Amino acid sequence: VSLKKYNTFGVDVMARYFVEINSEADLAELFADKTWHDVPRLVLGGGSNILFTRDFDGLAIKINIKGIETRVEDDRILVISKAGEVWNDLVQYCVKKDIAGLENLSLIPGSVGASPIQNIGAYGVELKDVFFSCRAFEIATGLIRQFSNHDCHFGYRDSVFKNALKGKFIITEVTYSLSNQQNLKLEYGAIRQELENRKITEPSVKDISDVVSHIRVSKLPDPSTIGNAGSFFKNPIIKVDKFRQLQSAFPDIVHFSVNNEEEKIAAGWMIEKLGWKGKQIGNAGTWKNQALVLVNYGNATGSAIYDVSSKIISDVRSHFGIELEREVNVI
Ligand code: FAD
Ligand code: EPU
Repeated sequence: VSLKKYNTFGVDVMARYFVEINSEADLAELFADKTWHDVPRLVLGGGSNILFTRDFDGLAIKINIKGIETRVEDDRILVISKAGEVWNDLVQYCVKKDIAGLENLSLIPGSVGASPIQNIGAYGVELKDVFFSCRAFEIATGLIRQFSNHDCHFGYRDSVFKNALKGKFIITEVTYSLSNQQNLKLEYGAIRQELENRKITEPSVKDISDVVSHIRVSKLPDPSTIGNAGSFFKNPIIKVDKFRQLQSAFPDIVHFSVNNEEEKIAAGWMIEKLGWKGKQIGNAGTWKNQALVLVNYGNATGSAIYDVSSKIISDVRSHFGIELEREVNVI
């Protein structure tokens, strides 16, 4: 099966086996057959955080489980979504009902089931701020396990599902703890600026969703026309001492304070500084409005895109002494 339409880079590779899952029962049935336990597996949501560098000689498992429910509990609203829902459909479902919590994460591509994997984040909110729990199918035992927020060990673009439990569980449902009290997150400069442009002084949940969507569209390429997976690298976090040295060499370096000991550096700034913004090598390159986003300008292969990422890593290392880490899952 070709995976071209199952990854937002639009890379044309094949999977040896492919299955679509519509319920937890489908998963139980699939793994009741022990032959699948010995085959390499890849769980697929929207394919918006994956780069295929070659054919996948295993079983691709596309998660399509659907359904959203709401439960009102005292002062919070629990929204329970199956893993195969499109993330932004869930966000818009909440926005329509004036339920607050997900609006800053509007328009992030991909599925609900992948949202805890890298603790998606944008515009001042991370998934961990609103995540209540998830249900997941354990491949080895066929049992369903519930994970609390604490169990997930969320970090910046990180969770237990990328580390100790990598490849062991398939998330089938996620519950979000949301609210109809409008305690909106407006700290992000670009949000405040755009609200001001629109002369909005008392924003609604929908206003924030609209503003965030507007900002995103202006910066990020639409995967339906230009293949990409969003930020290709994480923003590196470095010790304050090292940061001070860098800052004296590069006074305009863009950075955010993490805590007293660490600073986060805007990787996009470093990549742009090295002349990579909008650069194209063959059909692969970086986006003209956001150097942190690697793009497929035509029929690029995954390995051509990967090669560009390696060149950027080595350039950043030799100029800034910083090791960039890929955020995208490379297969
Ligand atoms: P996939 O790419 O299908 O999978 C990602 C990983 O999760 C893989 O390892 C896969 O095996 C695993 N996985 C997927 N579903 C499950 C499941 N149900 N159970 C277990 N494992 C699973 N991310 C951000 O955090 N913030 C952003 O602002 C952001 N902006 C983006 C903008 C663009 C234009 C694009 C293309 C991507 C952006 N991303 C962003 C990255 C991406 O949207 C997120 O990582 C998203 O959560 C990926 O969802 P997906 O369903 O496409 O996952
Ligand atoms: N910058 C440049 N040149 C560039 C890109 C960025 O100089 O080409 C500088 C600018 O000063 C800009 C700053 O870097 O103000 C930050 O850029 P931006 O606001 O675009 O955010 P980012 O740090 O590049 C992160 C996330 C995004 C998320 C945005 C908004 C990571 C790896 N990326 O990007 O997430 O949408 O913040 O919160 O943390 C993703 O994970 O795929 C993703 C798109």
